[in-house]
Amino acid sequence: MCGIICYKGKKNATEIVTDGLKRLEYRGYDSWGIAFKNDKLDIIKKVGKIGDFYGASKLKESHVAIGHTRWATHGGATEANAHPHISCDKKIAVVHNGIIENFQELRKELEKRHKFVSETDTEVIPHLIEENMHLGFEEAVKAALKRLEGNYAIVAVHEKEEKIIAAKKGSPLVLGLGDGEYFIASDVPAFLKHTNKVIFLDDEELVTINKEIKIYSLKTNKEIKKETSEIKWTLEQAQKNGYPHYMLKEISEQKETLKRAINQDEKEIKKIAEEINKGFGTFFVACGTAYHAALTASYIFSKITKKHINVVLASEFPSYEHFLTEKTLVIPISQSGETADVLEAVKAAKEKKSKIISIVNVTGSTLMRQSDVFFQTNAGPEIAVASTKAFTSQLALLTLLAYACDGKFEEGKKVLEKTAGYTGEMLSKEFGEQIRKLAAKIKDKEHLFIIGRSVNYPIALETALKIKEVSYIHAEGFAGGELKHGTLALIEQGTPCIVFASDDDNKKEILSNAMEIKARGGYIIGISPENNEVFDYFIKVPDKGGLSPIINIIPAQLLAYYLSVERGHNPDTPKNLAKSVTVK
Ligand code: M6R
Repeated sequence: MCGIICYKGKKNATEIVTDGLKRLEYRGYDSWGIAFKNDKLDIIKKVGKIGDFYGASKLKESHVAIGHTRWATHGGATEANAHPHISCDKKIAVVHNGIIENFQELRKELEKRHKFVSETDTEVIPHLIEENMHLGFEEAVKAALKRLEGNYAIVAVHEKEEKIIAAKKGSPLVLGLGDGEYFIASDVPAFLKHTNKVIFLDDEELVTINKEIKIYSLKTNKEIKKETSEIKWTLEQAQKNGYPHYMLKEISEQKETLKRAINQDEKEIKKIAEEINKGFGTFFVACGTAYHAALTASYIFSKITKKHINVVLASEFPSYEHFLTEKTLVIPISQSGETADVLEAVKAAKEKKSKIISIVNVTGSTLMRQSDVFFQTNAGPEIAVASTKAFTSQLALLTLLAYACDGKFEEGKKVLEKTAGYTGEMLSKEFGEQIRKLAAKIKDKEHLFIIGRSVNYPIALETALKIKEVSYIHAEGFAGGELKHGTLALIEQGTPCIVFASDDDNKKEILSNAMEIKARGGYIIGISPENNEVFDYFIKVPDKGGLSPIINIIPAQLLAYYLSVERGHNPDTPKNLAKSVTVK
């Protein structure tokens, strides 16, 4: 949540930072701001998305700039609350991602000597630095950081100082190393256009950027040397490439991303499968869409390997920590690898000495670095806030693991390769047009219900999440048998209800559930390999031995996308949300 991008170098910093902010918009888009330096510090702040601001290219040239795009936590989306925040003398500017938990006490203390102009937790930081400037800029930043409780990734500049100073604890920061130029950002796509050489900062590290960079441990106060990594993502992967939205581009990439997801180190997968089989308890821990991938996979594990996997929402994990031992396997699943609740669960599991085997997409993310073993889903950058290709990649990898647990790694790979091939059939223009027509037909409905049984129950949940998230239609997913335990009362004439009727053991029952809804006036949208008289609208999906959850979610993702567009929204940046949820 919130995106930071800063630059120091020979090129025009205001241009690089405003461009970087556009690329980081998926992390928060309530407001944005930039501070840039010449002989004095200039600050520009605006409410809304930077993409909607046409004056960005006219900003004065500079060689040092810090920028921020905000997802509001403390204080509404106003210009005053937008970052950067500044000291009373207007010489120090700070951008921040995270939450300062003790900001109220600090503010009370500082208000005796400093004038506050925002409602944010961040504003205490420039004032704390200002208080300590007699120590020099770098020491003043360190002294300020010592007073902070909570999470932060911060970057500070001073009007009279050459250095940019950045530090992190609990929120991500990555350095980009160019030719005589440096970048600091929350995420790599912000500067990928300029360099793919990066250093990931760890917690309680501080970096000073001048003609060269120096990294210090805040614990020992000593300089440290860190490894430079090369990011394999290309700029092309992080661009729309002719698609109207990232969401559609990412849905369309799934045939390829599925193949990449199962391209894993066979030995390593088999080793982990063995550990799961030895069985002292395995937990899948995740949030949102990744949780739905985990829940779907738990059905697959049950069926294929006859193994029970505990699936826990990361934010609920504290209630399950009591079961953990050093023999427990904890498998966190996360696209970003930065989700605060997931990281908190990992921390708790590590304290109990449980083994952490993560499934993660973003290279160098905190989760990856905190795991004993990690598998990368290889989906490439996922920019749209709604997770699509990351979901199917997580599901494919977890399915491969389930097959490996049953000693059938090769068979699992074949089934998944076949499934990837089938998804291609649904990514055609004609298929998309059929879904768009359906979206146009139901776009003004207030409520929508989705049912599925077994592996398709979590797919119903995921469909509902996708539709709510980008179209703002109220949608709810249910296990087919559950609707008549209460929710059937909401079905009226014409209420749309999506039914996942795959060719499996549950087909008869789910079709009966569809009948029950139709009998009460529901408008039945069948997603199935075969048409049925109960369907009012039929979406034909392939099903010749493929994995139905991966196949079924594709038309659902497309429907969510087209509902959003038909209702006049931007599916890439849904209101109130941000891509990485880095606060608890
Ligand atoms: O980065 P993560 O996979 O840990 O994110 C988890 C959720 O925040 C995420 O899946 C969220 O639910 C998506 N926006 C849903 O599309």
